[in-house]
Amino acid sequence: MSNQLTFDVSTIDQPSSFKDERFDMIHQLYTEAKQDRLAFWNNQANQLVWQKKWTNTLMWDRPHARWFSDGILNAADNCLDAHLTTNAKKTAIIWESETGDVVHITYEELSKLVNQLANCLRADFNIQKGDRVTIYLPQTPEAAVAMLACAKIGAIHSVVFAGFSAPSLAERIKDSSSSLIITALDANRRGKRIPLLNMVHDALKQTPTPHVPVLTVNGGGENDFYSRINAQPTQCQSEPMASEDPLFMLYTSGTTGQPKGILHSTGGYLTHAKYSTKLVFDLTPSDIFWCTADVGWITGHTYVVYGPLLNGGTILMFEGTPDYPNKGRFWECIEKHRVSIFYTAPTAIRAFMKDDPSIPQQFDLSSLRLLGSVGEPINPEAWHWYYRTIGKSRCPIVDTWWQTETGGIMLTSLPGYHPMKPGVAGAPLPGLSIDVLSQDALSLQNTRGFLSVTEPWPSMTRGIWNNTERFKDIYWSTFDTYFAGDSAYKDDDNDICVIGRVDDVLNVAGHRIGTMEIESALVAHDAVAEAAVVGVHDDIKGQSIAAFVILNCNHQESPALLESLKAQVVTSISPIAKPKMVIVTPELPKTRSGKIMRRLLKQLVEKTPLGDITTLAQPDIIPIIQKKVELS
Ligand code: PRX
Repeated sequence: MSNQLTFDVSTIDQPSSFKDERFDMIHQLYTEAKQDRLAFWNNQANQLVWQKKWTNTLMWDRPHARWFSDGILNAADNCLDAHLTTNAKKTAIIWESETGDVVHITYEELSKLVNQLANCLRADFNIQKGDRVTIYLPQTPEAAVAMLACAKIGAIHSVVFAGFSAPSLAERIKDSSSSLIITALDANRRGKRIPLLNMVHDALKQTPTPHVPVLTVNGGGENDFYSRINAQPTQCQSEPMASEDPLFMLYTSGTTGQPKGILHSTGGYLTHAKYSTKLVFDLTPSDIFWCTADVGWITGHTYVVYGPLLNGGTILMFEGTPDYPNKGRFWECIEKHRVSIFYTAPTAIRAFMKDDPSIPQQFDLSSLRLLGSVGEPINPEAWHWYYRTIGKSRCPIVDTWWQTETGGIMLTSLPGYHPMKPGVAGAPLPGLSIDVLSQDALSLQNTRGFLSVTEPWPSMTRGIWNNTERFKDIYWSTFDTYFAGDSAYKDDDNDICVIGRVDDVLNVAGHRIGTMEIESALVAHDAVAEAAVVGVHDDIKGQSIAAFVILNCNHQESPALLESLKAQVVTSISPIAKPKMVIVTPELPKTRSGKIMRRLLKQLVEKTPLGDITTLAQPDIIPIIQKKVELS
C-alpha cells in the first residue's frame, strides 16, 4: 500500500475568541515537550495528587512501559477527594434519564456514594486489590459510582457495554475471571425495558463460575445495590496503588473471534486523562461538558468519567438516544443544561444532517463554545454541517483520533492554536510522537501509510489481559514502534488524516467490531457452513456489515432464514453487529491456498472495479456472487 494522494482540503482559522488566550500556552507546551519529553510528562503527572512521588519517570523495555513506577496514588482520591476541600458542593454529574428526569450530584455526594460502595465491595463481597469486577450497567450515575468504587479499593473494573448480549457478556466475565458483577434490573432503551439482570443470569450459566455474586440496582433481595450500600459508612480508606497497578481493563474487538481485554495502568492513564481533557477541550470550572459516549466504551471511561472528574469539571450524562422520543432530543439537552462543550461521533452528526434542517434551529444552542468528534473519520460535509448548524461558525471543532489502546486523545488540532482542516484529525498533542510509516518503517509525507506512535506514552495500554504474546504480535511485530492498525497520511504541515482500519476490524457507527466475531456467530447457526463478513460504505454509519454465507446442503434460502441469521448475530453479539445484508452464495472467492478474498466481496457490494482476480481458485464464482448482490 503506498498510493500517492492529492491533498486538497480547506483550512479554517480558529474562532477569534480562542486565539489569543491559548496560543502562547500551547506553544510553550510544544516547546517544553520538544526540549525534554520526560520532564514534560513529569510536569503533567505532577498535576495529580500522589501519596508518594515517583523518582523514575519511564522504564522502557519494549513493548513494556513503566511510567512513574515507584509513585503511589489512588484514582478515586484524585477524581473526588481532591476536590472536597474547595468544591464539595459543586455539581459533578448532571444526569438526565431517557424519560427526562434530571438528577444533580455534587462532588461530596458522589464521593459518599463511592465510599459506601467501596466499603460494601470490601466488607460484603471480600473484593481485594487486583480482583476483577464486571460492570454491566446502563448510562446512569451508578456506572460512574461503580467504576470509582473499584478504583478506590484497587479492584480492576471491566465495564461491558449494556448493549452486548449474554454470550458476549459471558465471554468477558470468563476471560477476566470476575469475582463480582454489578448490574441493574433493567435499562431503558427507546421506551422499552431491557432486562439486564436476566442477561447476566443467562451469561453466568455459560461460565464456569455460575454462582459469582451479582449486585443489582433496583434488583431487590439480599444483593440490592442501594440496600447494601446504604448500610455502609460514607468514609473509606483508599487503597494505595502503585502507578503501574492496573486501573481497569476494557474489552475491544480484534481480528480474531476473541475480544481483547485491554489493560490500563493507574498513574500513566490518569496523567493523560487529566492533561488531555484540559488541553483539548479547554475545560474550565464553569463548563458543562457533555460527552455522548456510553461508559461501556473507552471514550466513556476517559471523557465521561476520569478526565472531567480529575479536572473538577461538571459532566452531563444522558441515558437516552439522540432521536428518542423526538429528533431534537440532543439539542433539547444542550439548551436545557446549558452545555458548553459537546463531544460526539460522526455517525450521529450524519444522522442529524439527513433530518429536517429546521430541527436544531428550534433550540437555543448559544451555550456551546467547543465541539468534538471521535470514533471514525469525519467527512468534510459532516464537519461543515456540524460547524455551521450546531456551532454557528463560532465554536472550534476538535476531530480527535485515538483508540481503546491509547487511553486518551492522541491527534487533534488544538483550539486557539492550529488552523482546522475539515476531515483531518491534525497534530499529535504535545509530548506525543506519531508518524505515518511505509512498510519499511520509513516516514512518509503526502503518501498513504501506516499510523504508528513512535515513542512510549504514559496512557499506552500495558497489554492484553492474560495474553502477552497476542499483545506483542498485534501491536509490536509490524514495526519497532506501536502499530495502530490504521492507515493515514501526513500533509505538508505534518497534520495527519486518518483514513481507516487496515485489519479485519470494522467500524460501524463508531463501534469496533471484528469480522471474525460475526463470522463465528454465523457459522454457529445450524444452516451455515461457511461465512465471510465485510464492511461496506454506509452514508450514516460509516460502515455497515455485509455477510456472505454458504448454506449446509439440507437448508434452503428463504426470507425467514435470512432474518434468523441476522437475529443470530444480534443474540450472540449485540444489535450493533447486526448485518445490513446477508447474501447466500454457493461458494466464496478464495485464493488457491484457500484464503477468502474479502476485498473482492467488498468491491462487489460497493460496485467498485474489481482488482486483480488472477489468484482466485474459481474465478467463475464472481459473476454468480455479483448477481446475488444485485438481487439482494
Ligand atoms: O480506526 C480508528 C477509529 O477508531 C479506532 C479505535 O476504535 P476504539 O478503540 O473503539 O476507540 C474509539 C474511540 C477513541 C481507530 O483505530 N477512529 C477513532 N477516532 C478517529 C478514528 N478514525 C479517524 N478519525 C478519528 N478521529
